[in-house]
Amino acid sequence: MSCTPERLTELLEWFHSHPELAYEERETTAKIREVLEGAGIPVLCSGLETGLIAVIEGGRPGPVIGLRADIDALPVQEESGLPYASCYPGRMHACGHDFHTVMLLGAALMLKERQAELPGTVKLIFQPAEEIDSGARKVIATGLLEDCRLFLAGHTYPQFEAGTVGIKEGPVMAAVDRFEVIIRGLGCHAGQPAKGVDPIVVQAAIVQSLQTVVSRNMDPFTPRVISITHVEAGTTWNVIPETARLEGTVRTLNAQQRALAEERFRSLVTGIAAAYGAEADIRWTHGSGAVINDEKLCILARETAREMGLTVDRQEDTMGGEDFSCYLENRPGLFVRVGTGGGWPGHHPKFNVDPAALEPAARFFATLAHKCLMETPA
Ligand code: NI
Repeated sequence: MSCTPERLTELLEWFHSHPELAYEERETTAKIREVLEGAGIPVLCSGLETGLIAVIEGGRPGPVIGLRADIDALPVQEESGLPYASCYPGRMHACGHDFHTVMLLGAALMLKERQAELPGTVKLIFQPAEEIDSGARKVIATGLLEDCRLFLAGHTYPQFEAGTVGIKEGPVMAAVDRFEVIIRGLGCHAGQPAKGVDPIVVQAAIVQSLQTVVSRNMDPFTPRVISITHVEAGTTWNVIPETARLEGTVRTLNAQQRALAEERFRSLVTGIAAAYGAEADIRWTHGSGAVINDEKLCILARETAREMGLTVDRQEDTMGGEDFSCYLENRPGLFVRVGTGGGWPGHHPKFNVDPAALEPAARFFATLAHKCLMETPA
């Protein structure tokens, strides 16, 4: 099966109109399998219920590398007006994971054509459930990626037009931690506050003080964010409640700042609660780490893009998260921003991509993968 721009556009239209949420990507997985097997690319037996890993073994000996695409959609009602908009109410490929899927299928078809000359093996990772920060761990747990020496991935980027790629050394996506605090006071009559311990006053003091973690404790030259996004307490106007609750997220770009943020958070919350005679339970969830791009891979990727006539731009840091970082915990890797135009930001109901971006993006990843095989010692 040849990999023409028309074929890629057709596939994009199919995946775009059939979005499936995290761990429900059954039709998506079946379609990916159909395209791969139709091209003679074997799918490995992974035990994954959704998502899959396929392999192209080169004709010459060499290293193994991993190319990863995420395949899940979002619970968003599509308003793009596209003729191939989502068939399903309340579900949409609003982050371009349909584009990632087709980009990797395209790269796979191109690599398959030059299989005999490839000095090594490429594993094609179609990962479920990126949006809930969970799929990467599941894929890694199959054990099928142990032999991968490095990982490559790309993400749609509406700020760049088709034919542009964003490449930057070092951290490009944030570590995402999540917290919940339950403040336990002592409920009482609103007219007799001295008989209780008001958890709302404690909650307010905590909300105010937590911003000093980013403004007073952490390195001002390092991007970092604390956002409190959910506060809850009480049920009526004349009762001081027993408990108050808050939730939010901490975003950091390196391990040291990440640990510092958590440590300062815990001591402020515990200390403030104690000072007011209340208690605070902290539930801290460590999400995926920061995505940190390998320097040598950046150089190779820039060179590849320029040789192909693509425009190379600088990738901006974002404080968004990406579970691609899980693959990079002990291997080098590269996360590239792929220009897809369209004008609307990711997760917006009008998000769309320029199909003209598909072929160059697929060709870029196929060429870069080939180069990585040549440059990585076996
Ligand atoms: Ni995404």
